[in-house]
This record gives sequence, structure tokens and C-alpha cells, in this order.
Amino acid sequence: MSLLEKSGAEIDAIIARYPQKRSAVLPLLYLAQDEYGYLTDAAMREVATILDLPPTDVFEVAGFYSLLYEQPVGRWVLQVCDDVPCAFCGAEELIATIQERLGITVDQTTADGMFTLQRVKCLADCNHAPLLQANLEYHRDLTTPQQVDQLLAALRRRAESGEKLSISGRYAEQ
Ligand code: FES
Repeated sequence: MSLLEKSGAEIDAIIARYPQKRSAVLPLLYLAQDEYGYLTDAAMREVATILDLPPTDVFEVAGFYSLLYEQPVGRWVLQVCDDVPCAFCGAEELIATIQERLGITVDQTTADGMFTLQRVKCLADCNHAPLLQANLEYHRDLTTPQQVDQLLAALRRRAESGEKLSISGRYAEQ
């Protein structure tokens, strides 16, 4: 089923927010990667067709933004801030614990497709260091392995419960 068939009403609503159709390229790419799990070549071409854009324009946008994924990622993308204030407060220990618990290293995805781990720079919430965002939801003050265990278990439960997740972070503020 095509993106338009699956999410036609939502796509129309997104496009209606902008004076020019082409300005909807980012929200449509976020929607597409949520539908397909990542931005496949076909998904990007679909977005280009919907917006009457040359596919190369869409490929360029997808290649520029770090929150657009051109390779498969997990249902939860865990982005740990490793910038200086977080590093002083235990970011490396946090990353090490996640790696150990999930059996992956940074930029890898668990075999069950549940989690991808990434490093990112300042998330602008340094007073709650160390922290991570999971599909752009903030999880703060993660100073102990027990907190990591609780967080990973809670995220796994949410995914398994059938909750609608967005690797693009489209539900992060709801
Ligand atoms: S340095 Fe980590 S949130 Fe700012």
C-alpha cells in the first residue's frame, strides 16, 4: 500500500499547512520513515511524487538531516548526549551500560529490531545530565544502571503493547 493510500488524509493536512507544497518535504519524510521503518529509495521517490519535486531534491534533504534515517533502525532510537557537561556527569558510563545491556555498540541495532543506539551532541537540557532521548522523548538524570534497566524495560513494554511509536519523534510532545 502506498503512502498516500495509508495516510492520505494526514498528508493532505500536512501539505495544507504550507503556502508551497514543496515546504512539506520534511514532515512527509518523517511520516514516510515512520511508515516504512526508514527512508527507502522508493519511499523518498514517493514523497517526491506527492510534492511534485525532482527525486534528487528529496535525496539531498534526506542526506542532510541526522533525524532522517536511510538505513534500518530499531523501533526505539536511543540518542545519548555525550557533549562535555553530560560527559562530566556520566555519559560514558551511561553509554557503556546501555551497550552492555543491549549487546550492541553505538550505531548498531539490536537483533530483535527494538533499539538503535546513537551518540549525539548537546540536547539543551544539561542540568539533567546525563540524559538521552528515545524517539525524541527526553529521559533525564540517568545516573545508575538500575535506571537504565527500568527505562529499557519500560520502552520495550510500550513497543510490545502496540503503542504507536515514531522514530521521527512525531509523538514526543504529546
Ligand atoms: S551537554 Fe548533554 S544536554 Fe547539554
